[in-house]
Amino acid sequence: MSVEIKKGLEGVYIDESRISSVDGENGIIWYSGYNIDDLVTETTFEEVLHLLWNQHLPDRDELQELTEDLQSSRELPEPVARILERSAQRARPMDLLRTAVSALSFSDPDPANLDDLPRKLIRIVSTMPTILAAAYRIKRGEQPVPPRKDLSHAGNFLYMMRGEQADPDEVRAMDATLILYAEHGMNASTFSSVVTTSTLASPYSSITSAIGTLEGPLHGGAMETVIDMIEGIGSAERAEQWVKEKLENKERIPGFGHRVYRVTDPRCAHFKREIDSLKTEQEEDWVRTIETVRETVENHLGDKGIWPNTDLYSGTMLRMLGIPPDFYIGIFALARVAGWSAHVFEQLEENRILRPRVRYVGETGRRVVPIDHR
Ligand code: CMC
Repeated sequence: MSVEIKKGLEGVYIDESRISSVDGENGIIWYSGYNIDDLVTETTFEEVLHLLWNQHLPDRDELQELTEDLQSSRELPEPVARILERSAQRARPMDLLRTAVSALSFSDPDPANLDDLPRKLIRIVSTMPTILAAAYRIKRGEQPVPPRKDLSHAGNFLYMMRGEQADPDEVRAMDATLILYAEHGMNASTFSSVVTTSTLASPYSSITSAIGTLEGPLHGGAMETVIDMIEGIGSAERAEQWVKEKLENKERIPGFGHRVYRVTDPRCAHFKREIDSLKTEQEEDWVRTIETVRETVENHLGDKGIWPNTDLYSGTMLRMLGIPPDFYIGIFALARVAGWSAHVFEQLEENRILRPRVRYVGETGRRVVPIDHR
């Protein structure tokens, strides 16, 4: 049978969407027609969540309603709190987040009922920061801090991690992170959530699938590997040589390359701006190391279309907020759940189960030989 196989589904369109578009040639991300460059400076994560779910920015009443819904759903249900108490000290943050989101269904009286999808998704979006912050506190031998109803999504998350309110610049940086990572077309984790949704599974299953897919080092995990790389290089003077050696050995440099972009990822500039406003004198060499890595990779691989992706900078910004690297993918998930959930809604508007095929190239016509004769 002659069929065209698109390895990695490169260039394959699986459907139409009104949620976002990524212009990889010009380096522009649009959320429902708005350039993220404008959204990140002029809106909040809550407004962006409303936009992705409804394809319009909220007016004041709509924003207040969504904000109140989110604020009143932040508490951890008892079964989830117990899972965290028992396992948070030894388990990885992403394993805790994936398991805890799945376990949110235990306290939903009718988890598979898709008629109250908005309530379920509000609950997932607003509880995820509480889960991650509780995991962070328990890992450090501290008591989880209960959520506050008077703070923004970003502000409350930092408050629950630290036990005190963060300053407005830090809240703004966290809010920007949530906006910039909220949505990105049919990326691998979003695709996972859509595949699961297409079977009419519960949204708890859809978001759990997406969290599992996000974790790998080719997707969300790259944020953490970039930090390992900068730490491993050790100083800006060593960066150029380090990169050259890696490239000679045909190794991949984390934080570079993308299936869609042929230019620098547009989110890099925003993270760079936040880094410049948060960085201290001790962090100057770290930032210079990143820039030397960037220049060296661009000089060697720019012709091939390999340019910086957002993960080159975002981990450094979170590091400047005092967040340890093993929590970065979790924070990516707190943001991307906005996009995952928007795609859950959209998929269910006109659902058809996603069921591709694979071309069989194995042996044929084999006979079963009794086990003692194999
Ligand atoms: N360093 C060195 N070479 C690279 C890199 C890199 N980071 N990325 C791609 N290449 C080369 C690759 O070796 C291949 O070369 P050749 O054609 O000679 O074999 C060519 O570029 C094409 O690579 P590919 O693997 O076919 O590209 P892909 O579209 O399948 O993969 C990617 C995209 C993001 C997985 C890949 O660029 C990569 O592994 N990057 C490093 C990990 C990373 O930073 N991931 C974060 C992605 S952005 C945020 C997110 O999605 O979560």
